[in-house]
Amino acid sequence: MSAPTGAQRTALVLGNWKMNGDAASAEALLAGLVAGCHGLSGVAGVCPPYPYLGLAASRLAGTGVGWGAQDVSAFEDGAYTGEVSARMLADLGCTWTLVGHSERRTLFGDTDAEVARKAARALAAGLVPVVCVGETLAEREAGSTEAVLARQIDAVCPVLRDAGERCVLAYEPVWAIGTGLTASPAQAQAAHAFIRARLAAGGVAAAPRLSLLYGGSVKPSNAVELFGQPDVDGGLIGGASLVAADFLSICRAAAGRS
Ligand code: 13P
Repeated sequence: MSAPTGAQRTALVLGNWKMNGDAASAEALLAGLVAGCHGLSGVAGVCPPYPYLGLAASRLAGTGVGWGAQDVSAFEDGAYTGEVSARMLADLGCTWTLVGHSERRTLFGDTDAEVARKAARALAAGLVPVVCVGETLAEREAGSTEAVLARQIDAVCPVLRDAGERCVLAYEPVWAIGTGLTASPAQAQAAHAFIRARLAAGGVAAAPRLSLLYGGSVKPSNAVELFGQPDVDGGLIGGASLVAADFLSICRAAAGRS
Protein backbone atom coordinates (compact mmCIF):
# COMPACT_ATOMS: atom_id res chain seq x y z
CA MET A 1 0.00 0.00 0.00
CA SER A 2 1.40 3.42 -0.86
CA ALA A 3 1.86 6.10 1.82
CA PRO A 4 -1.20 8.29 2.43
CA THR A 5 -1.21 11.54 0.53
CA GLY A 6 -2.13 14.83 2.15
CA ALA A 7 -5.68 14.56 0.87
CA GLN A 8 -6.11 11.19 2.59
CA ARG A 9 -5.13 12.49 6.01
CA THR A 10 -7.58 14.33 8.23
CA ALA A 11 -7.58 18.05 7.55
CA LEU A 12 -7.63 20.01 10.79
CA VAL A 13 -7.48 23.68 11.69
CA LEU A 14 -7.32 24.71 15.34
CA GLY A 15 -7.73 28.25 16.60
CA ASN A 16 -5.51 29.07 19.55
CA TRP A 17 -7.14 32.09 21.12
CA LYS A 18 -4.27 32.45 23.62
CA MET A 19 -5.07 34.83 26.55
CA ASN A 20 -7.22 37.21 24.54
CA GLY A 21 -10.65 38.70 25.11
CA ASP A 22 -13.39 38.32 27.65
CA ALA A 23 -16.74 36.60 27.99
CA ALA A 24 -18.44 39.01 25.59
CA SER A 25 -15.84 38.64 22.85
CA ALA A 26 -15.76 34.85 23.32
CA GLU A 27 -19.54 34.74 22.96
CA ALA A 28 -19.42 36.87 19.81
CA LEU A 29 -16.63 34.82 18.24
CA LEU A 30 -18.42 31.55 18.96
CA ALA A 31 -21.63 32.96 17.47
CA GLY A 32 -19.73 33.89 14.32
CA LEU A 33 -18.27 30.40 14.06
CA VAL A 34 -21.63 28.73 14.60
CA ALA A 35 -23.20 30.90 11.92
CA GLY A 36 -20.57 30.10 9.32
CA CYS A 37 -19.32 26.59 10.02
CA HIS A 38 -21.52 24.55 7.69
CA GLY A 39 -19.48 22.06 5.69
CA LEU A 40 -16.60 22.13 8.15
CA SER A 41 -17.59 19.26 10.41
CA GLY A 42 -14.51 17.58 11.83
CA VAL A 43 -12.16 20.14 10.26
CA ALA A 44 -12.35 23.04 12.71
CA GLY A 45 -11.72 23.40 16.41
CA VAL A 46 -11.03 26.20 18.89
CA CYS A 47 -8.83 26.39 21.97
CA PRO A 48 -10.25 29.18 24.14
CA PRO A 49 -8.82 30.15 27.53
CA TYR A 50 -9.86 27.71 30.28
CA PRO A 51 -12.66 29.91 31.71
CA TYR A 52 -14.48 29.88 28.36
CA LEU A 53 -14.27 26.16 27.62
CA GLY A 54 -17.68 25.57 29.16
CA LEU A 55 -19.12 28.35 27.04
CA ALA A 56 -17.51 26.85 23.94
CA ALA A 57 -18.94 23.45 24.85
CA SER A 58 -22.45 24.83 25.19
CA ARG A 59 -22.32 26.88 21.97
CA LEU A 60 -20.46 24.41 19.75
CA ALA A 61 -22.10 21.12 20.77
CA GLY A 62 -23.65 19.55 17.71
CA THR A 63 -22.10 21.99 15.22
CA GLY A 64 -19.20 19.80 14.07
CA VAL A 65 -16.72 22.37 15.41
CA GLY A 66 -14.72 20.93 18.31
CA TRP A 67 -12.95 22.53 21.22
CA GLY A 68 -9.83 21.94 23.24
CA ALA A 69 -7.46 23.48 25.76
CA GLN A 70 -4.25 25.44 25.34
CA ASP A 71 -2.35 23.43 27.94
CA VAL A 72 -2.80 20.67 30.51
CA SER A 73 -1.16 19.71 33.77
CA ALA A 74 1.62 17.14 33.78
CA PHE A 75 0.15 15.87 37.06
CA GLU A 76 -2.84 13.59 37.38
CA ASP A 77 -4.66 14.99 40.41
CA GLY A 78 -3.99 16.56 43.78
CA ALA A 79 -2.37 19.54 45.48
CA TYR A 80 -1.18 21.47 42.40
CA THR A 81 -2.59 24.96 42.84
CA GLY A 82 -3.50 26.63 39.58
CA GLU A 83 -3.21 23.51 37.45
CA VAL A 84 -5.94 21.96 35.31
CA SER A 85 -5.98 18.21 34.85
CA ALA A 86 -6.57 16.24 31.67
CA ARG A 87 -9.60 14.59 33.29
CA MET A 88 -11.16 18.01 33.92
CA LEU A 89 -10.66 18.88 30.27
CA ALA A 90 -12.23 15.59 29.23
CA ASP A 91 -15.19 16.40 31.51
CA LEU A 92 -15.63 19.64 29.56
CA GLY A 93 -15.86 17.68 26.33
CA CYS A 94 -12.47 18.73 24.99
CA THR A 95 -11.21 16.75 22.02
CA TRP A 96 -7.68 18.18 22.06
CA THR A 97 -5.18 19.92 24.24
CA LEU A 98 -2.13 21.76 23.02
CA VAL A 99 1.12 20.76 24.73
CA GLY A 100 4.50 22.38 24.32
CA HIS A 101 3.39 25.57 22.64
CA SER A 102 6.48 27.76 22.24
CA GLU A 103 4.99 30.37 24.57
CA ARG A 104 4.77 27.69 27.27
CA ARG A 105 8.31 26.57 26.53
CA THR A 106 9.89 30.02 26.44
CA LEU A 107 7.79 32.03 28.93
CA PHE A 108 6.84 29.33 31.42
CA GLY A 109 9.78 26.96 31.20
CA ASP A 110 8.04 23.84 29.89
CA THR A 111 10.82 21.36 29.16
CA ASP A 112 10.81 18.57 26.59
CA ALA A 113 10.33 16.06 29.41
CA GLU A 114 7.39 18.00 30.83
CA VAL A 115 5.80 18.27 27.41
CA ALA A 116 6.04 14.48 27.10
CA ARG A 117 4.41 14.04 30.52
CA LYS A 118 1.60 16.40 29.53
CA ALA A 119 1.04 14.46 26.30
CA ALA A 120 0.89 11.23 28.31
CA ARG A 121 -1.69 12.71 30.71
CA ALA A 122 -3.78 13.89 27.78
CA LEU A 123 -3.75 10.47 26.15
CA ALA A 124 -4.58 8.71 29.41
CA ALA A 125 -7.68 10.90 29.76
CA GLY A 126 -8.80 10.24 26.19
CA LEU A 127 -7.71 13.61 24.81
CA VAL A 128 -5.74 14.11 21.61
CA PRO A 129 -2.47 15.91 22.40
CA VAL A 130 -1.40 18.50 19.85
CA VAL A 131 2.35 18.52 20.37
CA CYS A 132 3.88 21.82 19.28
CA VAL A 133 7.48 22.00 18.09
CA GLY A 134 9.55 24.64 16.35
CA GLU A 135 12.84 26.49 16.21
CA THR A 136 13.70 30.07 17.09
CA LEU A 137 15.14 32.49 14.55
CA ALA A 138 18.59 32.15 16.11
CA GLU A 139 18.38 28.38 15.83
CA ARG A 140 17.30 28.55 12.18
CA GLU A 141 20.08 31.00 11.35
CA ALA A 142 22.59 28.76 13.10
CA GLY A 143 21.49 25.88 10.87
CA SER A 144 20.14 23.86 13.78
CA THR A 145 16.44 23.71 12.83
CA GLU A 146 16.48 19.94 12.31
CA ALA A 147 18.51 19.32 15.47
CA VAL A 148 15.98 21.29 17.53
CA LEU A 149 12.99 19.54 15.96
CA ALA A 150 14.69 16.17 16.45
CA ARG A 151 15.27 16.86 20.15
CA GLN A 152 11.70 18.01 20.71
CA ILE A 153 10.21 15.08 18.80
CA ASP A 154 12.45 12.39 20.27
CA ALA A 155 11.26 13.41 23.74
CA VAL A 156 7.61 12.62 22.89
CA CYS A 157 8.05 9.56 20.65
CA PRO A 158 7.95 7.08 23.56
CA VAL A 159 4.59 8.56 24.60
CA LEU A 160 3.14 8.73 21.09
CA ARG A 161 4.15 5.20 20.02
CA ASP A 162 1.01 3.63 21.45
CA ALA A 163 -1.34 6.49 20.63
CA GLY A 164 -2.12 5.29 17.13
CA GLU A 165 -3.69 8.13 15.22
CA ARG A 166 -4.88 9.88 18.39
CA CYS A 167 -2.23 12.57 18.29
CA VAL A 168 -1.42 15.63 16.21
CA LEU A 169 1.88 17.49 15.71
CA ALA A 170 2.10 21.20 15.06
CA TYR A 171 5.15 22.83 13.52
CA GLU A 172 5.33 26.42 14.70
CA PRO A 173 8.57 28.19 13.88
CA VAL A 174 8.92 30.64 16.77
CA TRP A 175 10.06 33.41 14.42
CA ALA A 176 6.75 33.20 12.53
CA ILE A 177 4.42 33.37 15.54
CA GLY A 178 2.59 36.67 15.77
CA THR A 179 5.27 38.39 13.70
CA GLY A 180 3.57 38.52 10.31
CA LEU A 181 6.47 36.45 8.97
CA THR A 182 5.35 33.12 7.58
CA ALA A 183 7.46 30.12 6.69
CA SER A 184 7.43 29.77 2.93
CA PRO A 185 5.45 26.78 1.70
CA ALA A 186 8.77 25.09 0.87
CA GLN A 187 10.18 25.75 4.35
CA ALA A 188 7.00 24.41 5.96
CA GLN A 189 7.00 21.32 3.75
CA ALA A 190 10.65 20.58 4.50
CA ALA A 191 10.08 20.83 8.25
CA HIS A 192 6.90 18.75 8.10
CA ALA A 193 8.57 16.02 6.07
CA PHE A 194 11.42 15.97 8.57
CA ILE A 195 8.98 15.75 11.50
CA ARG A 196 7.07 12.87 9.92
CA ALA A 197 10.24 10.95 9.19
CA ARG A 198 11.61 11.56 12.67
CA LEU A 199 8.39 10.30 14.26
CA ALA A 200 8.56 7.16 12.16
CA ALA A 201 12.21 6.66 13.07
CA GLY A 202 11.21 7.05 16.72
CA GLY A 203 8.81 4.14 16.49
CA VAL A 204 5.59 6.10 15.92
CA ALA A 205 4.12 3.70 13.39
CA ALA A 206 1.14 5.94 12.63
CA ALA A 207 3.44 8.78 11.47
CA PRO A 208 2.39 8.58 7.80
CA ARG A 209 -1.26 8.99 8.81
CA LEU A 210 -0.91 11.70 11.48
CA SER A 211 -2.15 15.21 10.81
CA LEU A 212 0.70 17.72 10.94
CA LEU A 213 -0.39 21.32 11.35
CA TYR A 214 1.56 24.44 10.43
CA GLY A 215 1.33 27.49 12.69
CA GLY A 216 2.83 30.96 12.38
CA SER A 217 1.02 33.93 10.84
CA VAL A 218 -1.40 31.83 8.82
CA LYS A 219 -3.95 34.08 7.12
CA PRO A 220 -6.71 33.58 4.54
CA SER A 221 -4.25 34.91 1.94
CA ASN A 222 -1.52 32.31 2.52
CA ALA A 223 -3.52 29.31 3.77
CA VAL A 224 -4.26 27.70 0.41
CA GLU A 225 -0.61 27.62 -0.61
CA LEU A 226 0.59 26.33 2.76
CA PHE A 227 -2.07 23.64 2.97
CA GLY A 228 -1.29 22.60 -0.59
CA GLN A 229 2.02 21.14 0.55
CA PRO A 230 1.97 17.35 0.70
CA ASP A 231 2.85 17.08 4.40
CA VAL A 232 0.90 20.09 5.66
CA ASP A 233 -2.50 18.82 6.78
CA GLY A 234 -3.90 21.97 8.34
CA GLY A 235 -3.03 24.79 10.67
CA LEU A 236 -2.75 26.05 14.21
CA ILE A 237 -3.95 29.62 14.04
CA GLY A 238 -3.34 32.41 16.52
CA GLY A 239 -4.26 35.99 15.60
CA ALA A 240 -6.49 35.14 12.63
CA SER A 241 -8.54 32.75 14.79
CA LEU A 242 -9.91 35.74 16.70
CA VAL A 243 -11.82 36.92 13.62
CA ALA A 244 -14.57 34.44 12.75
CA ALA A 245 -14.61 35.17 9.02
CA ASP A 246 -10.82 34.82 8.69
CA PHE A 247 -10.71 31.62 10.72
CA LEU A 248 -13.56 30.06 8.73
CA SER A 249 -11.85 31.01 5.48
CA ILE A 250 -8.66 29.28 6.65
CA CYS A 251 -10.69 26.21 7.64
CA ARG A 252 -12.24 26.12 4.17
CA ALA A 253 -8.77 26.24 2.63
CA ALA A 254 -7.85 23.12 4.62
CA ALA A 255 -11.11 21.35 3.89
CA GLY A 256 -10.62 21.89 0.17
CA ARG A 257 -6.95 20.94 -0.10
CA SER A 258 -5.97 18.38 -2.67
P1 13P B 1 -0.15 33.54 14.96
O1 13P B 1 -1.11 32.87 13.99
O2 13P B 1 -0.75 34.73 15.64
O3 13P B 1 1.18 33.78 14.34
O4 13P B 1 0.08 32.48 16.16
C1 13P B 1 0.43 31.18 15.85
C2 13P B 1 0.35 30.37 17.09
O5 13P B 1 1.15 30.52 17.99
C3 13P B 1 -0.75 29.40 17.19
O6 13P B 1 -0.56 28.53 18.26
